Amino acid sequence: MDRTGTRRGPLPADIAAKKRLGDLTDPGVERRDCHVEEAILSRRSVRAFLPDPVPAPLLRRLLEVARWAPSGSNIQPWKIHVLTGASQARLSEALFAAMRNKEPREMEYHYYAPVWREPFLARRRACGFGLYGAMGIACEDTAARSAAFARNYAFFDAPAAMLFWIASDLEHGSWMDYGMFIHSLALAARGFGLATIAQGALGAYPHVAHRLFGVGPDFKLIGGMSLGWADPDAPVNAFQPDRLAVDDFTTWLD
Ligand SMILES: Cc1cc2nc3c(=O)[nH]c(=O)nc-3n(C[C@H](O)[C@H](O)[C@H](O)COP(=O)(O)O)c2cc1C
Repeated sequence: MDRTGTRRGPLPADIAAKKRLGDLTDPGVERRDCHVEEAILSRRSVRAFLPDPVPAPLLRRLLEVARWAPSGSNIQPWKIHVLTGASQARLSEALFAAMRNKEPREMEYHYYAPVWREPFLARRRACGFGLYGAMGIACEDTAARSAAFARNYAFFDAPAAMLFWIASDLEHGSWMDYGMFIHSLALAARGFGLATIAQGALGAYPHVAHRLFGVGPDFKLIGGMSLGWADPDAPVNAFQPDRLAVDDFTTWLD
């Protein structure tokens, strides 16, 4: 490699990528000119979507791209349900019913540590304040906060959603792999101007999705993702949580 980072010839992966690109499903939607940095920086969790449907070939295309995410020993631990139309409506209705009937809401894994401590507690609170603030909901208004949270079960009106399942016997490493898959999906979506939100909340009331979609205990429900085009006028989408500075979490060793 020379000083400008230019290689003399293409790497095998570059050649393979060209072929893989040619093999992808035609999404029926124009691909944007979107650098990977722009895709990462513009991926923000969206909580209000326009009703415009996401074409099925585009959803397939996102999965065709995300499946190239890395995984330890290439075991590819993902199992996905794509929901639109009737299946999405059925899950939404069943989740709201489970909430109304006060059915058990335990997820099939622990997303967070059992006890909140600093510095994570303060960051979580800042996230909550920011989110509810953007919606004009006062912190002490628990009814409004619950109603806002329940929007998760309406997929924030997104026209498409996915559920993420993982084999029950897999360990931390495979869950880490899954995170890469989910982020790959979200970034591939940006390439078409699509917005997404990963939703642990869709992993609550897991018995509902197990029952509706006939999935046995050999799989756990991680959660899901809503996908669609962001509503630019929705106040909730103005919420843009910040990040730590690089030097707040990095130690440079020589
Ligand atoms: C795996 C995962 C699960 C999440 N679950 C939810 C959720 O259930 N509901 C929700 O409103 N946001 C959820 N989020 C979004 C986070 O709140 C969001 O990523 C975080 O506040 C940073 O904001 P940003 O994604 O807009 O950068 C989730 C994010 C991830 C990565």
